[in-house]
Amino acid sequence: MKVLVSGGTGFIGSHTMVELLNAGHEVVCVDDYSNSTPLVLGEVEKITGKKVIAYKENLCDKAKTLAIFQKEKVDAVIHFAGLKAVGESVHKPIMYYDVNINSVISVVEAMSKTGVKNLVFSSSATVYGTPESMPINENFPTGGTTNPYGTTKLFIEKILMDYCHVNKDFNLALLRYFNPIGAHESGLIGEVPNGIPNNLVPYIAQVAVGQRDKLSVFGDDYNTHDGTGVRDYIHVVDLAKGHLLALKKLEANCGLVVYNLGTGIGYSVLDVIHAYEKACGFSIPYEICKRREGDIGECYADPKKALEELGWKAEFGIESMCESSYKFQEMHPNGFEKK
Ligand code: UFG
Repeated sequence: MKVLVSGGTGFIGSHTMVELLNAGHEVVCVDDYSNSTPLVLGEVEKITGKKVIAYKENLCDKAKTLAIFQKEKVDAVIHFAGLKAVGESVHKPIMYYDVNINSVISVVEAMSKTGVKNLVFSSSATVYGTPESMPINENFPTGGTTNPYGTTKLFIEKILMDYCHVNKDFNLALLRYFNPIGAHESGLIGEVPNGIPNNLVPYIAQVAVGQRDKLSVFGDDYNTHDGTGVRDYIHVVDLAKGHLLALKKLEANCGLVVYNLGTGIGYSVLDVIHAYEKACGFSIPYEICKRREGDIGECYADPKKALEELGWKAEFGIESMCESSYKFQEMHPNGFEKK
């Protein structure tokens, strides 16, 4: 299959390109490198021994996007491209709605004009807002998102579902990710946050290599086993593999499908710190601070549907998530550009 991967040089995109290439698919990467670097393409090629067809393009440009689709004649699309910083989205909502929504519209129009009928969309557990109970299954109501980033995911899901509704031969997989962390075992690709990391594991990784003094633990008074926030951390390689199985499902003309991609296991912030300490061999300094606004106490998936319908199950545990994260961080203390 020839697959167009938008945002292919990002964290999840790059790991998915590796899995696609390893499985014998052809990959067309479209990325404007606004939050990544083309150096990732070389790393993906090094890992797989295969070539990526790459375009530097902003997908909001409809004419240029269409031209790529006309030239490449792909069989399917995995759409990762988009802005993803929760905090930034609160301060720049219009930019988030503009970029995230218009890029999807541009891609779907190009798919429609060139007869491409299979789309995997990179969604998030954030579409569930503040769920009333755990674990979260796909029938839980969506809505009540607490920031513009999350609302773009919710709106895009709705836009795509409406498109699917009138285009009966269109196949759409909405994949709702929980908390992807870790890196490829080679240490060649991984997550490089822009500026001060917002997310837990990228922050711990920078503390581990001495770039930051200590981690702030946002609250220890939640109703969880140790009072700190509980999340469903999933190894990015497991997540990437879920996309391949979703593509297979689309090929069988499934119409609209929605899957949670998580492990079903919740770890607290302190659990993750201790797992990371084990991976790097020394202690991670931290201090307990007040809660972060907008956070919920716990969030973890019911991953049963993905197992039953895709045959997908997360294989890696928290140990390999932390080990691979630390390996990548040690190999790239300053990101991809400056080694
Ligand atoms: N945390 C800290 N200190 C930090 C960073 C995070 O204690 O420096 C805690 C948070 O309070 C939370 C947990 O670590 O309890 C995980 O926080 P992350 O920021 O890593 O992840 P979130 O669950 O808040 O956010 C993730 C994705 C978002 C998505 C959201 C909801 O990063 O894109 O899940 O699905 F919107």
